[in-house]
Amino acid sequence: MPSTMNNIAKQGDHGAAMMPVIQGVGRAAIEIAAVLRGAVFRGALGGAGSENIQGEQQQMLDVLSDEIFLEEMRSTGFICAVGSEEQEELLVIEEYSHADYLVLVDPLDGSSNLDVDGPVGTIFSIVKRKTANSERPHVSDTLQSGREVIAAGYVLYGPSLMLVCSVGDGVHGYTFNPAVARFELSHPDMRIPETGGYYSVNESNKSDWADGMGDKLIAMKAETGLGMRYVGAMVADMHRTLLKGGVFLYPADSKNTTGKLRLLYEAIPMGFVMEQAGGKAMSSGIAILDIEPEALHQRVPVYLGSNTNVDALLG
Ligand code: AHG
Ligand code: MN
Ligand code: MN
Repeated sequence: MPSTMNNIAKQGDHGAAMMPVIQGVGRAAIEIAAVLRGAVFRGALGGAGSENIQGEQQQMLDVLSDEIFLEEMRSTGFICAVGSEEQEELLVIEEYSHADYLVLVDPLDGSSNLDVDGPVGTIFSIVKRKTANSERPHVSDTLQSGREVIAAGYVLYGPSLMLVCSVGDGVHGYTFNPAVARFELSHPDMRIPETGGYYSVNESNKSDWADGMGDKLIAMKAETGLGMRYVGAMVADMHRTLLKGGVFLYPADSKNTTGKLRLLYEAIPMGFVMEQAGGKAMSSGIAILDIEPEALHQRVPVYLGSNTNVDALLG
């Protein structure tokens, strides 16, 4: 009998509470995947004509994915509020404002791949509220370091539909099986290989990188002989790094002086998964999971990969 996402209930100290929430993520993933595959026929590709808090042009599918994800989190009954890349403020789920958990989410990661039919993803992180259940959830509930994360993971919309997650008891990959319309365990106990794989970075920014990262990358390439792969969607570049080894990095540069990737719903969830898979998750001079967040949409430099390769870059 294949193992399904029900086995999450038996993982870690919070599995029983996380199972319905991660199953909700799975329902949202199935719905978002269906919307992505039919978008071209419904004129849903392209800009929404609005900007998000990041000052970035929102894609229609960013907005739609955000709505779908919020609805599925609401229907679990376990989530009191959602912090989303696509929403400037914390979104309180009124009918469940007394519930125990909050979700941080990048509803659609790698949106620039949408109009070229490239891989995209969803990234999520779950934390326990700090405010009393009788109080109204507050943005301070989201400003917790990665060491407080209860569960985190990502969905990859690729040739197959995958959900990779951890509740603190290792990393497990589930693949959607269309024959029975459910996610089934396909990649138990995922561990990043310590050697091999690729380095993954947008090298066109190299001349602007901070911290002499250009020279450090040249030295690491010479030392390891790694090839390069870069998809331009963090979820896809992270997933390949997790499976094949190597390192994914997005350094600070003159354009993004504190980095491009967002701490709460990109760096921390991916850092949690990477550490759970035996890899390393660093920002500049500090482990990503040790950073004390100061703002919902804060950006940080990101280095994720095998210990050998991350150490070769950051020393
Ligand atoms: P999002 O689509 O959620 O805004 O994320 C895009 C991010 C991330 O997915 C990816 O690693 C990075 O942007 C790519 O940036 P560049 O296009 O500058 O390389
Ligand atoms: Mn993203
Ligand atoms: Mn996004």
